[in-house]
Amino acid sequence: MEKFVVKGGACLEGTVSISGAKNAAVAILPAAIVSDGPCVLQNVPKIGDVEIITRIMTQIGVKVSFAADNTLEIDSSAIETHVVPQDLSRHMRASYYFLGALLSKFNKSVVSLPGGCNLGARPIDQHLKAFSALGCDVSVEYGMIKVACRNGLRGTHVFFDTVSVGATINSILAAVKAEGRTVLENVAKEPHIVDLANFLNSMGADIRGAGTDVIKINGVSYLRGTTYTIIPDQIEAGTYMAAAAATGGDVVITNVIPKHLESISSRLKRIGAEVIEYDESVRVRRSGPVISTNIRTMPHPGFPTDMQPQFAVLLSLSDGTSIITESIWDNRFKYVDELRRMGVRISVTDKVAVVEGIRKINGARVKATDLRAGAALIIAGLVAEGETTVEDIYHIDRGYEDIATKLGNLGADIKRVDIE
Ligand code: UD1
Repeated sequence: MEKFVVKGGACLEGTVSISGAKNAAVAILPAAIVSDGPCVLQNVPKIGDVEIITRIMTQIGVKVSFAADNTLEIDSSAIETHVVPQDLSRHMRASYYFLGALLSKFNKSVVSLPGGCNLGARPIDQHLKAFSALGCDVSVEYGMIKVACRNGLRGTHVFFDTVSVGATINSILAAVKAEGRTVLENVAKEPHIVDLANFLNSMGADIRGAGTDVIKINGVSYLRGTTYTIIPDQIEAGTYMAAAAATGGDVVITNVIPKHLESISSRLKRIGAEVIEYDESVRVRRSGPVISTNIRTMPHPGFPTDMQPQFAVLLSLSDGTSIITESIWDNRFKYVDELRRMGVRISVTDKVAVVEGIRKINGARVKATDLRAGAALIIAGLVAEGETTVEDIYHIDRGYEDIATKLGNLGADIKRVDIE
């Protein structure tokens, strides 16, 4: 068991390089199973969620090895089973991507109901709706989701009742080798969905429209092996951007796609930070006061829900009152109780938080309640007076590669220490 010990007060300065996108990697690794040849993935982040996915793949007979730093070789020619054991899969949300991937491979799949961050109800009805439309029988028994397609997957038309990243990805995985044409409407448009489609297309898939509301897939019978580079992580980049602005620093964030960061950059500018975009990097600096503003989380290209906790900290440093409306998840303000230990004044009613600018945050002993909440607590520690210890950091390790080293290189006083 480890914790982070953060001493506040340093203005972050320097350059930080962003790792591959977690949410793309956890979709693309299972997607590599669908390939009929070996795949090489570059820019794979070394994070907890990727480790769990690779362990699941090894358990079911896929050969997975790190060829070099952040480069993974995947060979699924000896895959043995369509059943993902429960011990690992129940710990992470994205394990349900094996449902779609194994369905493509074996016409059947069994995966446990998923775990992951506790952000309120996380139904999977839209995933199951798409599998049914593709011709599958779907059942949930004793915590296991079973999907089977006796007569082969057949192209179909699905209109999603809600915009879901996970359901869009699972449907693409299931439809990529289905017979005929599949049209998915009201889909999610996040960058990692485009990345998944690009990866599959590089193997010979025929997927068009990723990044728009409608995705059209002409099923193919064969997918060749490929070498593919995963996109940079939008949320990791956004977290360092928020940290730079919070500390009144000046940081160049490299290996990013600035277009993916536009909703974050525009809010940072409104808050009083300067954001300068280059081809593959952004520079964030702030010297004036933090200005209060209102934020509403929305599906891409709106402001990402996964940046909401980090911005709550930033807005706490402002000179006024801000309102944050969470429109994706029912219960994404649990971290506020931890921030209150640091003196932050945020009141929450249902999915709306009112953030009172207090300008000063105090160090305290706090616990990460989920992945992005953990990142927000670290940012709070960076600007706090005195020392902050952040516990339950396994949440943070699920999605941030070397966060203490990267922040340390920017001048932060943060250490990872064993809990006795
Ligand atoms: C993904 C991200 C997560 C992010 C979220 C929203 C990954 C691994 N995780 O989660 O970090 O916070 O997108 O950007 O990529 N819903 C249904 N029925 C379904 C599926 C979803 O009602 O079948 C609802 C959910 O309860 C939620 C909303 O749709 O209210 C969005 O969920 P979804 O986009 O599916 O999120 P995830 O894919 O789980």
